[in-house]
Amino acid sequence: MVESKFSKVDFSKYFQPPSLRAARRRRRESVHIINNFSIPDDMKAIGRGKKYLVETYGCQMNEHDTEVMGGILEEMGYQETEDVYDADVILINTCAIRENAENKVFGEIGHLKPLKREKPGLILGVCGCMAQEETVVNKILQKYPQVDLIFGTHNIHRLPQLLKEALFSKEMVVEVWSKEGDIVENLPQSRRGHFQAWVNIMYGCDKFCTYCIVPYTRGKERSRRPEEIIEEVRDLARRGYKEITLLGQNVNAYGKDLQDLEDYGLGNLMDEIRKIGIPRVRFTTSHPKDFDDHLIEVLGKGGNLCEHIHLPVQSGNSEILKIMGRGYTRERYLSLFNKIKKAVPNASFTTDIIVGFPNETEEQFEDTLSLVRECRFDGAYTFIYSPRAGTPAARMTDNVPMEVKKERLLRLNKLIDELASASNARYQDQVVEVLVEGESRKNSEVLSGHTRTNKVVNFRGPKSLIGELVHVKITDAKMWSLDGEWQREPEAAGR
Ligand code: 5AD
Ligand code: SF4
Repeated sequence: MVESKFSKVDFSKYFQPPSLRAARRRRRESVHIINNFSIPDDMKAIGRGKKYLVETYGCQMNEHDTEVMGGILEEMGYQETEDVYDADVILINTCAIRENAENKVFGEIGHLKPLKREKPGLILGVCGCMAQEETVVNKILQKYPQVDLIFGTHNIHRLPQLLKEALFSKEMVVEVWSKEGDIVENLPQSRRGHFQAWVNIMYGCDKFCTYCIVPYTRGKERSRRPEEIIEEVRDLARRGYKEITLLGQNVNAYGKDLQDLEDYGLGNLMDEIRKIGIPRVRFTTSHPKDFDDHLIEVLGKGGNLCEHIHLPVQSGNSEILKIMGRGYTRERYLSLFNKIKKAVPNASFTTDIIVGFPNETEEQFEDTLSLVRECRFDGAYTFIYSPRAGTPAARMTDNVPMEVKKERLLRLNKLIDELASASNARYQDQVVEVLVEGESRKNSEVLSGHTRTNKVVNFRGPKSLIGELVHVKITDAKMWSLDGEWQREPEAAGR
């Protein structure tokens, strides 16, 4: 019965609805780092002979959280499966950034209902950013009784205890801490890649852009200690990893909360990581406001620091940027962009852009087009503004009809496509270094990988090259990928 599952849940225990004022106060509280994660004895073998599957939506942070949940489940004896019919535990790791991301998740929970009926012992869990939203949890409790377990982004380390409760309780288990917990350092990780790895450097975001739900779902900015990060990167290097991506919602704020380390920022961290013998180092996501000169200087040293900068601009109009709460103007963005370009001449640049922010005028939108033209981005993730309950922008009246927003998105995407083609055309006949990631999705005879500048390259070669850095001569530059020929004995490769 639906009622029996949700009638006993005391919401006030779990949630404070998003409140800008309350969230801003949180910065003063300090964060503790703990190393005491362990699986309770009675849960250590509970998954033996059983399988799990985690479905992941959203950003790299979620993909990495999935690796941590996989690591915890594997320590409990579970094995991974890709087949929902085979799984004894299915976790849906959700994204709350836009409404359509949420709709996809509700669709998926709906699809899994018949399976739960066929297999009553199956544990179906919902976690990730949507689990941090009170409206979402209410909806699941009322409309999706097939869900056994809901847990938030700050409760991942509690997975063994929560799974135990879900296995032995007849009620839906809900544990969502509205306040972030400590940084737990010794969580297991089941890394999906054997030569590429994510490395969290910080959690949360304190930027509070007025449209964004992330500061509420991911909590305040908490940096990991540099020595922990460096040790993790050294370990990956020893194990033969070829590429790491340093992760955080706002990596440029790295270190600001480490009170005992004065002026230690992302530039300092990258300068240390630069000296570790791992061929490629990437980082995401950057915020222009905190991108400082020291980081630019360090990026200019090259070496293993890849020449690809993802620098979300969101809008090319200073008034809109102000209402978005981004903390920079169009002019400041352009000046930063040019400074980085000068320091890292071969760099490729990508960005994120929101169109149709409340009351955006045609002229303001055209400022975005002109900024994109000026920067000649290599690529961009473009979105129609999606109101998120509880954020300041969601309370603004909006006079821009959806048809106008859609039309602006099409115009913007057309320009982005043209620039992507032009940028790729510059690679024609060049020899590039490619990290071979696997078979191409479209054709298993073809191998695929990325350049240091993050361009996709497809070429023919033996499967033994997977996981290796090779050289490829570009023979055909397309809009979103480059075709090329593997160079057995390469000329010196540029990008
Ligand atoms: N609506 C549309 N796009 C959004 N983004 C974040 N919040 C919203 C929203 N409410 C976009 C921003 C951000 C990217 C990860 O998602 O462009 O950089
Ligand atoms: Fe959201 Fe802004 Fe933080 Fe990025 S910097 S996660 S857009 S609040």
